[in-house]
Amino acid sequence: MAKINIGIIGLGTVGTGVVKLLAPDPQFKVKWVAVRDTTKERDVDLSNIRVTNNPFDMVNDPEVEIVVEVAGGTDPFYELTKHAIEQGKHIVTANKELISKHGTEIFELAKKHNVTVMFEAAVGGGIPLISTLQRGLQANTFSSIAGILNGTTNFILTQMEEKGQSFQDALADAQALGYAEADPTNDVKGFDVAYKINILSSLAFGRFVDPLAVYRQGITGITDTDIKTAKEFGFRIKMIGLARRNGNQLDIRAHPMLVPLHHLLASVEGANNAIFISGSAVGDVMLVGQGAGQMPTASAVVGDIINIASALKLPDFAPYFQPAVASQNLQLGSIEDSEAAFYIRLETQDTPGVIGNLGHALGAHSVSLHSLVQRGIKEDGSATIIFLTHKASERSVSRALKEIEAQATTRQIGIALRVFE
Ligand SMILES: NC(=O)c1ccc[n+]([C@@H]2O[C@H](COP(=O)([O-])OP(=O)(O)OC[C@H]3O[C@@H](n4cnc5c(N)ncnc54)[C@H](OP(=O)(O)O)[C@@H]3O)[C@@H](O)[C@H]2O)c1
Repeated sequence: MAKINIGIIGLGTVGTGVVKLLAPDPQFKVKWVAVRDTTKERDVDLSNIRVTNNPFDMVNDPEVEIVVEVAGGTDPFYELTKHAIEQGKHIVTANKELISKHGTEIFELAKKHNVTVMFEAAVGGGIPLISTLQRGLQANTFSSIAGILNGTTNFILTQMEEKGQSFQDALADAQALGYAEADPTNDVKGFDVAYKINILSSLAFGRFVDPLAVYRQGITGITDTDIKTAKEFGFRIKMIGLARRNGNQLDIRAHPMLVPLHHLLASVEGANNAIFISGSAVGDVMLVGQGAGQMPTASAVVGDIINIASALKLPDFAPYFQPAVASQNLQLGSIEDSEAAFYIRLETQDTPGVIGNLGHALGAHSVSLHSLVQRGIKEDGSATIIFLTHKASERSVSRALKEIEAQATTRQIGIALRVFE
């Protein structure tokens, strides 16, 4: 039987794992790999593979049936992916930024050209999240999807809790161990989670939104005091991607949350990822596993390649795995229109009347207090006050915080975090 010719763009962490997994498989021949630097030593045998620094070479080769993009970023891969689809190639990609920003257009183009675009590795590394939402749970209507979708931030928050480290020290450890990149912005400021939750939301609710418009809060402002106090209150702080449907609006966010210690998501530690799905028929499902790394991610990529190869054998091949991501007329809602309980840390002057002032500002905006602690008095006469509110409208909490910030007894609002329900 003729082998299926494959072209792989990228031979870094993931690409190398993909070549290792495909090498012994008699169904496939890796005909091309594209890299930036063709002179670099590689960890795999490339003697029977053509190596280029121009990925368009493989895309223009009529023998290549599947193009695997494991390089990253949108330039040049947005144009290249469209060109490859127009040449009739099936696409397997791990590129969350590309799918999150341009998914609708790419899937429509793929449908027009009768090819398939698969992206299991783009979210959750080796965990089969995409296929679970696209196929296994098709019979459900989803009420919410929430997950720990970024291993780097979960590793940092776990280190802060277990070792009592500051954010900066935990980040330095994550970088030394290869969990965080030299420029960690995408991870610690929440962009990565925003891309990923947008992809999951599109599968669950039938609509992509602009991922750059998704509400984001990073983890850079979280201190060891927050980690300890949250635990005393009965929570663990986790970076969460959350998507829910609210009428004809989508509520999608990427921000740290206080997760109750008894919730399954609170127990997910280190660089692991987990996703908690609530479906109308299945109930609650949680998937957990390695969200990154060479072989877990390669497992997802090669799974997609095998799925395409199997579908190609069917007599009436059609793009079987194409998601219906533009099927619903939904808009991204504003976070201000939702409700949450809040954890708030502020620096105040240690003078009589501070608590009364706080209570007044909260009460004036119908935000009710759940618990409050004061953490030590510093030499400069300031004190840290931390409180939890009951569930309240985001708009009311933000107005109350503005009023508190303006009070003479307030030095600074340190952080405001939402509580996971
Ligand atoms: N690492 C993970 O655990 C993981 C998990 C899930 C998803 N992903 C996604 O998988 C993709 C790859 O990640 P990675 O960690 O494997 O990245 P990586 O180690 O940095 O490797 C990137 C590879 O792409 C090549 N490349 C970059 N730009 C290129 C261009 N314009 N033309 C040709 N080749 C180009 C690089 O060539 P050189 O080697 O010559 O520099 C390198 O081989 C990204 O989209 C990432 O978000 C990664």
